[in-house]
Amino acid sequence: MSEEHGTLIKTPKQLIVVCVLALVTPVAIALLGAQLVTGSKRIDTTEDKKSVEQRVKPVGELVKLEGAAPAPAPAAGVVAVAAKAKSGDEVYNEACVACHGTGAAGAPKTGDKVAWAPRVAQGVATLYDHAIKGFKAMPPKGGASALSDAEVKAGVDLLVAKAK
Ligand code: HEC
Repeated sequence: MSEEHGTLIKTPKQLIVVCVLALVTPVAIALLGAQLVTGSKRIDTTEDKKSVEQRVKPVGELVKLEGAAPAPAPAAGVVAVAAKAKSGDEVYNEACVACHGTGAAGAPKTGDKVAWAPRVAQGVATLYDHAIKGFKAMPPKGGASALSDAEVKAGVDLLVAKAK
């Protein structure tokens, strides 16, 4: 027992095993280290690509509306705007009262039955048309071009109702 003290290598077989281990171990450690460094920096996995696309995608998308193509479902915001069409009162106070409230520029005054009677007699379709497209000193949509045709019609309806 005592003469074997001092070394763990006792046979040629053990010597070979130790030599092989001494050669392989540093290489394995180096490979693991390289894997650790490069592995953590890789970004070409599908998950990462998706998250990058999410972060760099544009805020809005341009939707081209073709005449014949079926209209795509409008975005929620568009529906909200369309659903909130102005009432006849709102349209009148915003775009018509300036002239029709005072008779400015020769406009038939609101509620003036005599002034409105011959105009109403033309039929409401003509009045709509004149209010939307303009008529003599009456500018198209009263100058409020942002109003929809339906909103202008609501304004006309109000004017006609008040002239009765
Ligand atoms: C800048 C002034 C002005 C504004 C604003 C205005 N109008 Fe007029 N409007 C006139 C004048 C002037 C006439 C008369 C035109 C004429 O017969 O010579 C008129 C006429 C009309 C008529 C009668 C048309 C006809 O065939 O006799 C209607 C309907 C009418 N306006 C609707 C409206 C409505 C609805 C609005 C608001 C959306 C509006 N107007 C805003 C000036 C205005």
